Amino acid sequence: MTFPLNLSPPVFLAPMAGITDLPTRSLVARFGAGLVVSEMIASGEWLTQRPGTREKAELGLGVEGTSVQIAGREAGPMAEAARMIAGQGARIIDINMGCPAKKVTQGASGSALMKTPDHALRLIEAVVGAVDIPVTLKTRLGWDDDMLNAAPIATRAEAAGIQMITIHGRTRCQFYKGSADWAAIRNVVDAVDIPVVANGDIVDAATARKALAQSGAQGVMIGRGIQGRPWLLAQIAHEIYGTPAPRIPQGAEFTDMVLGHYDALLGFYGTKLGLRVARKHLGWYMDHAGTPDNARRAVLTAQSVEETLIALPAALDPSAWDVAA
Ligand SMILES: Cc1cc2nc3c(=O)[nH]c(=O)nc-3n(C[C@H](O)[C@H](O)[C@H](O)COP(=O)(O)O)c2cc1C
Repeated sequence: MTFPLNLSPPVFLAPMAGITDLPTRSLVARFGAGLVVSEMIASGEWLTQRPGTREKAELGLGVEGTSVQIAGREAGPMAEAARMIAGQGARIIDINMGCPAKKVTQGASGSALMKTPDHALRLIEAVVGAVDIPVTLKTRLGWDDDMLNAAPIATRAEAAGIQMITIHGRTRCQFYKGSADWAAIRNVVDAVDIPVVANGDIVDAATARKALAQSGAQGVMIGRGIQGRPWLLAQIAHEIYGTPAPRIPQGAEFTDMVLGHYDALLGFYGTKLGLRVARKHLGWYMDHAGTPDNARRAVLTAQSVEETLIALPAALDPSAWDVAA
């Protein structure tokens, strides 16, 4: 079973719009990851070169072990966007057929494509035919419990030239509710000869092992688990595949890493938007650190970079918590 570009170790970062932006993908990749996937890029957004779109793809362009994800509902624009993105140096194109958001499914893209497999296949064929680089697919188990059609779609996608399939073990109508059904991914694994990657609710080596065992998949993809723990993929890869152990930052080193990420987010988005985007990440870092409420509030209500830079180190340092109380 060969992964496109021989991706290794098979522990991958999931695309998460608004979260796995360039600074965050870079941080995860620095610790170690078999693959990082860009945030979803709507094909129309790329074709019209909406400001900020190229940045969504970066690190997917020209860097081994990265992939650029595209979404859309029409074969022509999807193929054209894929061709342009490949021309910019992307190594892998991933087709989004899993996004459950109403904004996306009402436009008949993302997971809505599962309801119209013939149309989805035309779109896949158009993208595969447009580029020389590997094309992969990310999807769910089906639209709802009455339409669990990931396996027949995967079979047809494989015949159309798709080289790897990631399955989030939920249906579209589940959104993020309940828990991922890793065992149900096995139907897809049994149906195709290309690598299948299991996704959904994997948060540590134990859940990764369980997902691999129950699904029979060849790799795992992890999204929300990295929030506050950008080393998680490297840690799981070490525990399961014996890759070098990441140095998990502790104490002052953890604070330095968070400050570095914060700085990168502000640089990437500019101060105004950066403050807002960074708040999510700071919240997750404080979850990881076990920051008490008062210190947490000081960070999350800070109105300027200067205020944040004063509150943050104290919020991440247990020895400062009594003082902050
Ligand atoms: C905020 C957020 C944004 C997401 N954006 C995308 C996206 O752009 N493309 C995509 O295929 N999946 C997207 N997903 C789904 C994730 O890639 C993943 O399939 C899902 O979160 C389940 O994995 P997890 O339990 O490891 O997070 C998103 C998920 C979240 C929470």
